[in-house]
Amino acid sequence: MKTVTLSTLQALKRAGEPFSCLTAYDATFARTASEAGIEVLLVGDSLGMVLQGHTSTLPVTLDDICYHTRCAAQGKGASLLMVDLPFMSNATTERMLEDAGALMRAGAEMVKVEGEAWMADGIRELSRRGVPVCAHLGLTPQTVHQLGGYKVQGRDADHAERILEDARTLAEAGASVILLECVPASLGRAVTEALDVPVIGIGAGPDTDGQILVMHDVLGVTGGRTPRFVKNFMAEADDIQGAFQRYHEDVKARRFPAEEHGF
Ligand code: KIV
Repeated sequence: MKTVTLSTLQALKRAGEPFSCLTAYDATFARTASEAGIEVLLVGDSLGMVLQGHTSTLPVTLDDICYHTRCAAQGKGASLLMVDLPFMSNATTERMLEDAGALMRAGAEMVKVEGEAWMADGIRELSRRGVPVCAHLGLTPQTVHQLGGYKVQGRDADHAERILEDARTLAEAGASVILLECVPASLGRAVTEALDVPVIGIGAGPDTDGQILVMHDVLGVTGGRTPRFVKNFMAEADDIQGAFQRYHEDVKARRFPAEEHGF
């Protein structure tokens, strides 16, 4: 695979070719995913749940994410490395800039931040300083207590319209990528068609430009109830590299996600 950059993702969107994204938190899994062809790796704050065993992402610190970013950066190969800003990094523009700076110094090539249109100033300032930003909308796990659980967002027309407007505002402010989590497939399609920037989906239907899953879900090792948008690719593979490859190929061929994975 040629080195994946933001321009690669933009070109894939223009060509109508989907791309695959997967979480990775260390060098070995980053290398395995990159060698399987996965275009984007995410050091997600989901590490709080799948590595640290918490019930939410809120306890994850900037130091935790910097540590895992340094690890994943060693194995990322040609994949693009996106990294999550942890809970409360979006509290002020100054804090966003400082925390994003720490992640970029640790090896991030793009930062992801959860929130809504009110993050426009922070995203504008990051973008002015050359930091590519992915804005995470829809189900934002850092606000799980306000949302009352991990629930599908944008089911009614007003909320769907608000999410679409937020995505437009943040893309205009300088977000290079939008990530939509747990929204109806119709909204995933509407946002993808409305924006020039690549849109990544998780539980957002088959029509977004990219798809992302948590590595542990792809390998079928997540404890407890698995969400509907997840598929265990290990069930059809001989080894971990094979599972990542199968996921990548199914995304590229638009076989994943299927209707049963959507809302
Ligand atoms: O932290 C994470 O792994 C994420 C993905 C679920 C998109 O944000």
